[in-house]
Amino acid sequence: MTSALVVYASITGNNEEVAEIVNEELKKLKVNSTLKEISITNADEFENVDICVVCPYTYGEGDLPEEGMDFYEDLPTLNLKGKVFGCAGSGDTYYEEFATAVDDFANAFIKAGAQKGAENLKIDLAVDENDLKNIINFTKELVATFEKVK
Ligand SMILES: Cc1cc2nc3c(=O)[nH]c(=O)nc-3n(C[C@H](O)[C@H](O)[C@H](O)COP(=O)(O)O)c2cc1C
Repeated sequence: MTSALVVYASITGNNEEVAEIVNEELKKLKVNSTLKEISITNADEFENVDICVVCPYTYGEGDLPEEGMDFYEDLPTLNLKGKVFGCAGSGDTYYEEFATAVDDFANAFIKAGAQKGAENLKIDLAVDENDLKNIINFTKELVATFEKVK
């Protein structure tokens, strides 16, 4: 059975919701998926799964989640060859550096040798109906990519 780990960083709940939806959609696609908050997760836990997902908020001016810095710094040091990853996160289009943490985590996964399974997905604040469709598609693409490369 295909496995996944969905890791999120969230202060006001938007990214937790994104991650919960990804986790539930993966389960609907028969993936054995686990949801975890970033500060209680070691990046090397991705070594034990097929599909790796990060849902981060962006703070400051394009800053990464403070509580996820160890995780972020460890990620590119891993060997995630053969794994498929996806990054989806909520930011606020009010900011010039809109949801840039999503791109930063995607780049860290690429450095670790993982393959991008779906385009980076950025969501403006809370998930709306259109975002929900995009998250469902994002999740389907992750699974389809893994099916192709496994
Ligand atoms: C002080 C502060 C700084 C922020 N800086 C950014 C930013 O640089 N870029 C961005 O896209 N969003 C920024 N945001 C917006 C949050 O990323 C956005 O509200 C997000 O949905 C929060 O996710 P969460 O509900 O999971 O905590 C900022 C919000 C606050 C309060």
